[in-house]
Formats: sequence, C-alpha cells, structure tokens
Amino acid sequence: MQLAARVNRIAISPTSAVMAAAEKLKAQGVDLADFGPGEPDFPTPQHIQRAAIRALEQGRTKYTPTPGIAPLRDAICKWHAAQFGSSYTVPECIVTVGGKHALFNAFCALLEKGDEVLIPAPYWVTYPEQVLYTGATPVPVMTDPSDGFRLRAEMVSRAITPRTKLLIVNSPNNPSGAVIPNDEFVKIYEVCRAKNIWVMTDECYSHFVYGNAKPWSLTSVPGTKPNIIVAGSLSKTFAMTGWRVGYALAPEPLISAMIKIQSQSTSNPTSIVQKAAVVALRGPQQCVEEMRAEYIKLRDHVVNGLRSIPGVKCTLPEGAFYAYPNVSAFFGRSGINSASEIAGKLLREVHVATVPGEGFGSKDNIRVSYATSMAELSRGLERMRKFFGSL
Ligand SMILES: Cc1ncc(COP(=O)(O)O)c(C=O)c1O
Repeated sequence: MQLAARVNRIAISPTSAVMAAAEKLKAQGVDLADFGPGEPDFPTPQHIQRAAIRALEQGRTKYTPTPGIAPLRDAICKWHAAQFGSSYTVPECIVTVGGKHALFNAFCALLEKGDEVLIPAPYWVTYPEQVLYTGATPVPVMTDPSDGFRLRAEMVSRAITPRTKLLIVNSPNNPSGAVIPNDEFVKIYEVCRAKNIWVMTDECYSHFVYGNAKPWSLTSVPGTKPNIIVAGSLSKTFAMTGWRVGYALAPEPLISAMIKIQSQSTSNPTSIVQKAAVVALRGPQQCVEEMRAEYIKLRDHVVNGLRSIPGVKCTLPEGAFYAYPNVSAFFGRSGINSASEIAGKLLREVHVATVPGEGFGSKDNIRVSYATSMAELSRGLERMRKFFGSL
C-alpha cells in the first residue's frame, strides 16, 4: 500500500508496543509484573467520577465549543494561576484530547520543513515522532547521566543553530525522573528568548515532585509569556489517563491557530469529560497530595530494590513515576548487547514488562514505571534479581 510520506516518517510508540505485548501475555494467563505503562494505578477520585455521571444524566452529550467549554477554560487558567502564579486568560487557553494532543496541535501550528527542534535526551518517545510528522527535524540534546540527566543551559546554547525554532522541556522528566532546578530552567529560557526560540514546557508530571522541590512552572516568572507554550494534562495529576483531557496555554495567536486545527480534526474534547475536568480543577486537591505521598514510598522501594541488584545502577528520580536504571554492565553477557534485548528477555523469561531506553534516546537504560502497587513492585523486583543474577 502506498502510504503518505509523513506516516512513513514516524514509528509506533515503543511504550504502546510493550503494552500490547504485555496484554497478549496476560490474555494467555501469564502472571505478569507490569512496569510498562506510564499510568497511575489509582482510580479517578470519586468526586470527579460523579461529575461525569451527573453530566451524562443532565444530557451534556452535545458538541461543545471547539476550544472547550468556557467554564473549563476559565478553571484551567485559574487552577494554573493558583498552583503556579501564572496569569493566563481564557483566549490563551485551549482544551485538548489529552496532553499529547495539545503537543500535536502546537507542533502542527508552528513547525515545518527546515525547522529544527531541540529535544533533551532521554525524552518522551512521542516528541521526535510528532516533530517528524510535521516535516521538521528533531535534534536530540544529550544530558549527563552523572548529573541525573538534568538539562543545563549551556547544553541548549551549544545545540542552537539559525534553524532552531523550538525547545521541548519536560521537567519532571519521563523517562528519567529528572527535575531541572528552577534557576537553571530560567537560564534555559533566557538562552532561548535571546534567540527568539519557542520553549514548549510539558508540565504533565508537574505535581509529582519529591524531596525539596515544589510544583513549579516557568510561567510563574514575570515576562515569560511571549515565547512559551505550556502543555498540560489531567491524565497523571488526577489519575484520568483514559478520559483524554489536556490543555495548552500560549499567546493568543498561537492558540487561535491550534483552535483552527482542532476545528478540522477532533472538533472538541468529549463533553462529559469536560464537565468532570471542571470539578477536578475546582474541587479539593487533597487527592493529588495523597497520590504524591504514595509515589514517594513506591519510588524509594523500587530504587532500593534495583540498587541492591549487583550491576544495576539507578539514580534517584526527583519526580514523575519512573525509575531509569542503567543496565549496561550486562551488555556482552549471555549474548545480550542492548537494553532492548534485556527488556525482551525480562518479558519473555521472567514475565516482567519494562520499556527499553533506545526509544527514549538513551541506550544503556530500561524504564521501570513504579505507578503500581508495592506488592507488584516486590514481585517484579524479585524476578529481576533472579534474572540479572543468572546472566
Ligand atoms: C512527558 C509526557 N507528556 C505528555 C503525556 C501525555 O499524556 P496524555 O496525553 O495522557 O495527557 C505523557 C504521557 O505519558 C507524558 O509522559
């Protein structure tokens, strides 16, 4: 079949591929320890569920305005202001079908052939693929594992060329869990502003930061609005992955362009989900703090477990819900030469699902999602210990 070149430029997400392989094994009755999906194990909080049911019962089942219902756009701006001290207004906000869709709309509105996009590595698998889809060129910027994979301003400076149009920053980071220190993030922004380069800040994991770090947004710095795009999501913050609701905040002309694209593609995010999202943002925020507290315990458990396996090196993630152990000490043993082969063997031989680092732009690591239960983590860690011990 003769497909369009833009489709042939991109690959299916390796995370989705692992999820599909894991589902297949589960369907065969295999008892899997599943550390693949980047998805909270928690149910969506009850008050949010009830809001969706209410919306359904009240017949909120019609098309909505393309950029989202006004109360939701208003709730997003106010929530963002309350959480981070930003100052966005409704015309600077669009509601999208998940955070991934906010990124997609923004990239389609901004990028074209000839543009270069700086993507700090390791990166979320979707960034380079979406950039390739637009015809622009992704340019990986390798961060330093010995500095906990934090992006530094001088790395950005070195990578900029006259063609650089956009930098994508994801802090806390999927897959590494790295959190960029606030003052460094401001320096990164200043480097970009001086060269008229857009900064896309993906705040998907904003509320899952540990240690001394507090949820923070670059947009809380006065004067930063002109060349920043925020991509946000309710997926992780409120355990709403399947609901598909996210947003973007950006200067009005860019939001208008994104609305134009959305009007000719998805029309609007799901009506009843939008009603539930208003309640998530305006309602009690205690549920977010409870999840954060649980993630800290899970993180400590998985990192201690991984570090106790001889040969496995693991930095302490400062945010998100992934551990990103370095497994390169096992390359060259038992015919294994890559993280992909390790992840493949873990899945087939001891039924532990992880995602290999190659898709994230770093070849020595595997991603272990700890957004699961303590019991599942313990079970999987035990199997990993046996597996690595046998190599
Ligand atoms: C870094 C990052 N950004 C954005 C998203 C998008 O999430 P969603 O489309 O569910 O809002 C994800 C999901 O895994 C992610 O890891």
